[in-house]
Amino acid sequence: MQDDDKRLAAEAAVAEIRDGMRVGIGTGTTVAFAIAAIGRRRREWPSATFFSTSQDTTKITRAAGVPIARFADQAELDLAIDGVDEIDPQLRAIKGGGGAMLREKIIASAARRMVAIADGTKRVPALGRAPVPVEILPFARAFVAARTSALGASPALRMTETETAYRTDQGNLILDCRFDAIADPGKLAVALQAIPGALGHGLFLTEIDAAYIAQDGIVTKMER
Ligand code: 5RP
Repeated sequence: MQDDDKRLAAEAAVAEIRDGMRVGIGTGTTVAFAIAAIGRRRREWPSATFFSTSQDTTKITRAAGVPIARFADQAELDLAIDGVDEIDPQLRAIKGGGGAMLREKIIASAARRMVAIADGTKRVPALGRAPVPVEILPFARAFVAARTSALGASPALRMTETETAYRTDQGNLILDCRFDAIADPGKLAVALQAIPGALGHGLFLTEIDAAYIAQDGIVTKMER
């Protein structure tokens, strides 16, 4: 059921792709449904170019028969499609459950239009149910943890299933910062960004232009 909703939201977003577009592809299980749809429909857009936010996405997109181009040469994209860990009514989100939020935010910011896709479980009245992931330089681990604690977080180093520290595609660490409540997400985003050694965080407050959210088989489109 939840997977059906993920698929419906993903397919609604893929319907926004037009030939010739430069499209950024996010990361995660919802995005995997978008990639499958792109793979099925790719011949409709012979001149579209696709860019990836993670090694995982690059792998499954190429496996679906869709080439991935190098983002480093791009200053701007037309569209980005990505999942969220939670999203509020103002289209502000927490991302990074898949650890790719640093590249995801770059792609989302580069895109003239960023579309979020989610099943209904991701809706929240206010941000803060999920921890805010912060990508950190390993050198600065304890320092950044202390600075996030001073902001009211309970930071936890993200671990893998084999109990080793999780590494991002850039080789960095992630602190999952749980807050009792996020009274002012804008203020928190600025404070997190200002910590030396914190390379990026999962608060997406302005990037998302629209969202397709599916619940019980019905897709709702929200525009900023
Ligand atoms: C990865 C992300 C994902 O988009 C987010 O975690 C949602 O993933 P899923 O669709 O698997 O629930 O931000 O960094």
